[in-house]
This record gives sequence, C-alpha cells and structure tokens, in this order.
Amino acid sequence: MRILVTGATGFLGKRLVKSLLADGHDLVVTSRDPERAAAELGEAVRAVAWDYRAQPLPAEAMSGVSAVYHLMGEKIGPGRWTRRKKEVLRGSRIQSTEKITAALTDQVTDFLCASAIGIYPGDTHAPFDETSELGSPDSFMTRLCSDWEAAAAATASSSRRHVSMRIGLVLGETGMLAPLVPLYRLGLGGPLGDGKQMIPWVHADDLVAMFRFVLSHRELSGPVNLVGPEPVPLAVFSRTLASVVHRPHLLRVPGFAIRAALGEASALVLSSYNVVPSKLRAAGFEFRFSAHAPALESVVREHYS
Ligand SMILES: NC(=O)c1ccc[n+]([C@@H]2O[C@H](COP(=O)([O-])OP(=O)(O)OC[C@H]3O[C@@H](n4cnc5c(N)ncnc54)[C@H](OP(=O)(O)O)[C@@H]3O)[C@@H](O)[C@H]2O)c1
Repeated sequence: MRILVTGATGFLGKRLVKSLLADGHDLVVTSRDPERAAAELGEAVRAVAWDYRAQPLPAEAMSGVSAVYHLMGEKIGPGRWTRRKKEVLRGSRIQSTEKITAALTDQVTDFLCASAIGIYPGDTHAPFDETSELGSPDSFMTRLCSDWEAAAAATASSSRRHVSMRIGLVLGETGMLAPLVPLYRLGLGGPLGDGKQMIPWVHADDLVAMFRFVLSHRELSGPVNLVGPEPVPLAVFSRTLASVVHRPHLLRVPGFAIRAALGEASALVLSSYNVVPSKLRAAGFEFRFSAHAPALESVVREHYS
C-alpha cells in the first residue's frame, strides 16, 4: 500500500516509517527539508518538500496514496507558550490538516491524524474513555486538540474513515523522560506536585504497534485513545523511575521545578489524565507493556544507559 506520512522525521514518525517499511509499504513523506528527510529516513522513502503556510499540499505527495498518517506539528514543549508559539502550535496542526483534507483523492480510504490526551479535562481523577466529555475550551490544549480533531473529521465520508489518535505521554528516547531521567540520576527525583495525578504513559514500541493496528483495523474510527492499559498515579510512576535509575526517592519536587524543567508542557504532567484505551482493547490490541515498571526499565536500559 502507498502511504503518506507527515512529521516523518520526528520522534514518532521515524519509528513509524521504519516499521511501515519493514511491513513492505511504499512510503511518501513530506518535510520542510526533503534532503534532510531523505538522509535521515533512507532511499526507500520518497520525500516531498512542503511548507504548509505557503502552499497547498503538492499533488505529487498524494499521488497513488491510499492511507495518510498526519503526525507533523511544532513541538509542544519545553519552553514558554508565547502568543507566537501558540499560533505555530495551532497552524502546524490545524491549518496543515485542512490543507491535507483539501488535497485528499478518492483513492484515500484512511486518514489517521495525531491528537493528544490533552483534549480531556485534567482536573479530575475519573477515567476517560473515547465517549468522555472533553475539557474546557478555555484550556489551550483542549481547544488545540478539538479544533485539530474537527479539521480531521471533515475528511470522513462513506468511503473514507478518519481516526483521531489521542496519544498519551510517550516513554522513549525523547519526550517527558528526557529531562526527568538526568534529574532522577542526580538523586533529585521525588514525589511530583501532590502525586495523585494520573499519568497516561505508553511505551513508544507499543505506540507504533497501535499506529499500525489502527491502519489494519478498519472498524476503528473517530477518536481512539493510544495509551497503555494502566495509567498510574504520578507518585507511583515517580517512585518507580527513581528505583529504575537506582536512586532514592526523597525530595518532594515542587510544581515550580517541574514547570522549570518541562515548560508549559508541565501542565500535562501536573494535571490528571486517567485515560483508558477502551476502543483498542475492544478491538483486541495486545499490549507488549501492560505495566509501567517494565516499560520504564526497558526505555531507561535502551536509551538512557
Ligand atoms: N511525542 C509525544 O509524546 C506525543 C504525545 C501526544 C501527541 N503527540 C503528537 O504526535 C505528533 C508527532 O509527535 P512527535 O513527538 O513525533 O513530534 P516531533 O518529534 O516534534 O516531530 C514532528 C515533525 O513535524 C514537523 N514540524 C515540526 N515543527 C513544524 C512546524 N512548525 N511546521 C511544520 N512542520 C513542523 C517536523 O518535520 P520536518 O522538520 O521534517 O518538516 C518534525 O519532524 C505531533 O503532532 C504531536 O503533537 C506526540
């Protein structure tokens, strides 16, 4: 199958591309810098230049394509979400989705678009499945994700499905663990905030397996939570991380220190997202990592040793 992947040079895109190539798919990617993309992703991938702000999606990117994974977007964190940064966070997701929608051909049967668990309210410990109420439109993350999902949903028709993949906090070589592991190695790990917030972790290997599962399970459509099966309270997650790096778990890490390390993305860690993968479970997805401790051990061993 010919598949278009946007954001293919990113943390998740690179992993997905490798896995789709191994499955024998024919891949087209878009990038702001196609030469860099080709160098990073290899000759088997055809890289097309696309600046979503300045032009429609080039027709050559969509030629012969049956499925699209839309993963591009300005990095959420770290750093401050200035007005300018917020505009780029939104434009690179929502405007790009609208331009892809406009360019889809009748041949495209699957539009699989990233979204995030930040769409849910972060102020309760109640579990959220795909039928749960969304957060307040006053929350920047909720509004970003709901506008992004609305743009993606506009692509759905009787012959084409859309999936909004509500991705959790990914455990891998970058993302939330990158600033935390060095701190914990210095023995500075400890209960974070009040520690009761639920962490919707997902191992990066399982996430890529979920991306592929969503493509092959056409009964899945609309919002789908891509998270591990057992979110845990942050205090538990934090204690396990300290133990995995063989350090004590003593100091309470205050909210301001987490905000300093993670920037405004810290809201995702300091809020509570008890998100459960109901649709994936019902469709029979098999998790390789069902518990957070082996997931953390595996990621720290592979990427932070
Ligand atoms: N990683 C997570 O924990 C996580 C959690 C929830 C949701 N998500 C969502 O999943 C998607 C992929 O995440 P990721 O971590 O793989 O992202 P990433 O590593 O930041 O990569 C995203 C890619 O998007 C392109 N990009 C970045 N800024 C852009 C901009 N201003 N304009 C146009 N293109 C831009 C870049 O490709 P080029 O440089 O080649 O153009 C980049 O390689 C994102 O939409 C993200 O919001 C990720």
